[in-house]
Amino acid sequence: MIILGIKSAGPDTSATLIKDGKIVAASGEDRFNREKHTSKFPEYAINFCLKNAYIEISDVDEVAIGMQWNKRAKSRFIYTLRTGGIYSIRKSIRLANEDFSRTRSAKNFFRKKSNYKGKIRFFDHYDCHAAAVYFASPYKSAAILSVDGAGEKSCTRIYKASETKINNLFEVNFPNSIGSFYSLITKFLGFRIDWDEGKTMALAAYGAPAFYNKFDDIVRKDNKSVYKINVDYFDFFRGKENYYSPLFINSFGSERKPKML
Ligand SMILES: [Fe+2]
Repeated sequence: MIILGIKSAGPDTSATLIKDGKIVAASGEDRFNREKHTSKFPEYAINFCLKNAYIEISDVDEVAIGMQWNKRAKSRFIYTLRTGGIYSIRKSIRLANEDFSRTRSAKNFFRKKSNYKGKIRFFDHYDCHAAAVYFASPYKSAAILSVDGAGEKSCTRIYKASETKINNLFEVNFPNSIGSFYSLITKFLGFRIDWDEGKTMALAAYGAPAFYNKFDDIVRKDNKSVYKINVDYFDFFRGKENYYSPLFINSFGSERKPKML
C-alpha cells in the first residue's frame, strides 16, 4: 500500500511517501522554494518524493492530510462568534475562509493539477501527532502527551497506545492552549508567531522566575481540565484583531517592537 502524507498548509509544509509501512521519501517544501518556514502547498516536495521513489501519482492508494481544516473552521467560527460578539464577525469569516480554502487547494491540486483519482483523507491533527511519535518509536505500548497550538478543537491530549491502537484518554480544548500562550509571549517579546518560539525557549533558560506569580494567574490549575488559560489577558482568544488585552498590557507593559534588520 502506498500512502502520500502531506502537511498542506501552515508553516513548514512537507510531503512523505510511505510504501508498505516504510518511509521511502520525505522532504520539506522549503528545500525547493528556499522560503524558510514556507506555507506554500508542498507541490515540489510531493514531486520530489514520487520521483525519488520511482512511483507515479496514479500508483498512490491514499493521500493523507494531517488536519481536518473544515472541521477546525466550523468549530473556531462558532467559538469566535460566541465569545467575541459582533466585533469578531469579520475575523471569524476570514479565519474560516482561510481553512476552507486550505481544503479546496489540496483537493484542487490532486483532482485538477495531478492525475490522482484515489482517496484524499483529512485526519484529526492530534491523532496524527500521536501516530507520528508512536509508530516511529520502538515501543509496543506507550503513554503519549501531545501539547500543540491547536488542532480542530483540542489543544492538549493524552493517549494510551498499544500494538496498533491509539486511544485518546483525555483532552483540553480551545481556547485553553499552552502552545498558543507560548506563541503570544513570543510575539510580545518582538518575535514572530509560528517562527521564533525556539528563541523564547532558549531565552527562558537564562531567565529568573520574576513573573512567576503573574504567569500563575494566566495559566491556572484546574481540577477538571488540569489547566485553564485565563483569556482575560488575551484579546486574541476573543476574536478581536489585537492580541493582548488591557489587563495584559497593564501587567507586562507594551509589546516589544522588533528592530529592523
Ligand atoms: Fe501540530
